Amino acid sequence: MPPFRCPLHSECVATILVTGGAGYIGSHTRYFLEKRGYSVLVVDNLSRGYKEAVPAEQLRVLDTRDGGRMEQLLRDERVDAVIHFAAYISVGESTQAPELYFENNASGSLSLFEAMLRAGVKRLVFSSTAAVYGIPQTVPITENEPYAPINPYGESKVMVEKMLEWLDRYREFRSIRLRYFNACGAEPEAGLGERHDPETHLIPLILRAIQTGEPVTFFGNDYPTPDGTCIRDYIHVSDLAEAHIHAVEHLLRGGQSEVFNVGTGTGHSVKEVMEAVERVTGKKVPHEIGPRREGDPPVLVADSQKLQAALGWRPARADLDRIVSDAWQFAQRAR
Ligand code: UFG
Repeated sequence: MPPFRCPLHSECVATILVTGGAGYIGSHTRYFLEKRGYSVLVVDNLSRGYKEAVPAEQLRVLDTRDGGRMEQLLRDERVDAVIHFAAYISVGESTQAPELYFENNASGSLSLFEAMLRAGVKRLVFSSTAAVYGIPQTVPITENEPYAPINPYGESKVMVEKMLEWLDRYREFRSIRLRYFNACGAEPEAGLGERHDPETHLIPLILRAIQTGEPVTFFGNDYPTPDGTCIRDYIHVSDLAEAHIHAVEHLLRGGQSEVFNVGTGTGHSVKEVMEAVERVTGKKVPHEIGPRREGDPPVLVADSQKLQAALGWRPARADLDRIVSDAWQFAQRAR
């Protein structure tokens, strides 16, 4: 990344507000924004985030749906741009209570955008997902793949993406939508890593199996892939965080709205992830093979050429053993 020069101000640095900054990807992005020299503020209602993941002086415990207080904060702190992570992220939960996802993710985002418009803040980076594509027609997936979500979580993100498309057209509200593939890894030196409750993601579950001896269940080994297990594009959370910094700097420089996939372009099967964990930890992974999980496409791999060409971002930590090693260091500290 080029050396830091505030894209907006000559004598001070831009102020970036991070919603959901006490969560997994938000806390890493906050950390890298601060390292780069920005003035950073976090808004999080702590319903699922961890307050230890944010320096106390940067944290405002607040819900993005509280439009009045959000507007006031945006004005008082002279916020220049918002990076919006605050959302629920569990596919399974979204199928049990879709209304939760429409209320928190879609309606919560709309409240935030209304407050931003009232406060005159019109630059936003949005945390979107590969789940907007559902089961893709073409892999690697480009941004031209149509919206086809297969669960309410993905639908809630499509709803927000569509709001942003219209706000761009009619309200000069500029946004970058980043569609992440499988976020993983950690920044153990900073005390940051993945902690979901309940945990549903593959790498932390495999590491937990090693720590507890309780087997992890792999969902199916009869997929049309070389080893029969599903293939995903695992992207280090710190690479993802840096993609947000490229995106927000594009907006601060007056750049246009865009949508980008964020992945490494390389797929790894569940079995390959397990083997990487065994290499890194030197331990066998207790596991069993269960039935397929509903809604799991066999292969999801990103084509992220567009992001690389437009903003000069590169995944610097794409090596699977590196990803697993960072996650393992964090898991050992967190216990
Ligand atoms: N898996 C298992 N056992 C587990 C958990 C996962 O075998 O206990 C497998 C899954 O079947 C899948 C792979 O590991 O093949 C990765 O699963 P994750 O649950 O870690 O991640 P997903 O690919 O299901 O989900 C990710 C993001 C979601 C997003 C989705 C888009 O975490 O937020 O991609 O399709 F919605």
